[in-house]
Amino acid sequence: MTDLMSHLKSHGQEHLLTGWDGLSPEERESFTAQLRAIDFTKIAELFAKKDEPGASLPPRDRIAPLPVEQPAAAAVEIGEGALRRGEVAVLVVAGGQGSRLGFEQPKGMFPVGPVSGATLFRIHAEKVLALTRRYGKPVPLLVMTSPATHSETVADFEQERNFGLPSGQVHFFQQGTMPAVELATGKLLLEKPGQLALSPNGHGGTLTALADSGLLARLKSAGIKHVFYFQVDNPLVNVCDPAFVGRHIQADAEVSSKVVFKERPEEKVGVLATVDGRCAIIEYSDMPKAMTEERAADGTLAFRAGNPAIHLFSVPFLERVTSGHQRLAFHLARKKVLHWDPASGQTVNPDEPNALKFELFVFDALPMAERWLAVQAKREDEFAPLKNADGPDSLETCQALMVGQARRWLTAAGATVAGDAAVEISPLFALDAAAVKMKVKPGTVVSGTTYFSET
Ligand code: UTP
Repeated sequence: MTDLMSHLKSHGQEHLLTGWDGLSPEERESFTAQLRAIDFTKIAELFAKKDEPGASLPPRDRIAPLPVEQPAAAAVEIGEGALRRGEVAVLVVAGGQGSRLGFEQPKGMFPVGPVSGATLFRIHAEKVLALTRRYGKPVPLLVMTSPATHSETVADFEQERNFGLPSGQVHFFQQGTMPAVELATGKLLLEKPGQLALSPNGHGGTLTALADSGLLARLKSAGIKHVFYFQVDNPLVNVCDPAFVGRHIQADAEVSSKVVFKERPEEKVGVLATVDGRCAIIEYSDMPKAMTEERAADGTLAFRAGNPAIHLFSVPFLERVTSGHQRLAFHLARKKVLHWDPASGQTVNPDEPNALKFELFVFDALPMAERWLAVQAKREDEFAPLKNADGPDSLETCQALMVGQARRWLTAAGATVAGDAAVEISPLFALDAAAVKMKVKPGTVVSGTTYFSET
């Protein structure tokens, strides 16, 4: 305790031990471990940067639109070969707190299926199972959680028996956390006596956690060469799309990204571009209005390569960006953080941002790639984000996109779907339009709400 006190004092953080006397021996032990794991020097360095202007955009002449390829049917065989050899793993990031949706449980447990009520986790896991069956090799499913979502996520997979996947095929790993510090003073905030206010370290924490957990090394020795990355809140994601995997391999890319074209300048989506000749993502909040409105010769938006956060990383690239000097750097965000105030002994729920949080962004890895590739995806086929309780990117828009895709696949197979029928296709029934064609006879009439399930 005296050791700990002097350690904290030397960093101006002795307030953290307020309330120590009221802690049980176990609480003291775990709090001590929590404090010992904190790199106070690093936190102080980050705090010192709080008034520096954010990484502002370089001048316009250093930025150029990124060439975007069309999906290449010719590459399908190459991608399928990699899947048959078991070289591709699937990584879903599910550590976020989903605050905008306002759902109490991890977002992956949200019942998004428009007919079945299947959860996001079920839909993703069924896609992985369907891929495993199709290509005859287990596709590892890596689920990244955070302390905010871990135990409920693991319990859900357990209760649902991994949605049919053998347990050895599902791997959970937790992203790191970072303490929040008081904006005015740099002092670490407490959630309660004996407990720091911690939050997930951003989706960029995925890459470091994948390496730090030892999972990356295990995947590599199991022969995995590529990791397909996506966010838990997109039920339309075309997991391990063989044409995409194939082009990535053909081009020997270190990172390949799917791109969804922006149609309107004001759409709030990050955009892939090149900065100083390297692939980068420009956040919508950083892009000047004039740039969002620029047009190419054919009249389309010049910077239209919207980022749906679907990437394929090569394993050597992941090793490189998670080791040594190339590690990602933290972004600073001013946030409201509920905390316990040692001075008053009260819990404080601030109205204004009172804290700094530190986050890593996955797309900061892109400029580190020597070779990259961007491939167009159609929004209606591959991107239905579930972010908000209502309005854009809400359950309503997400389910409408899911139903729209199912209707298109059925119609392409020659079925007739009644105008108002909600339809949904389980990935175990069919993974894509071609698979629907093999199972649904032309002339089939779908007259009402229908869930096409495995059986
Ligand atoms: P968002 O940034 O949209 O955050 O995450 P969110 O948690 O889903 O929702 P809000 O912003 O609180 O409303 C995009 C993806 O990144 C994951 C999320 O789980 C989601 O799949 N994520 C985000 C993490 O895994 N860890 C993080 O620290 C942040």
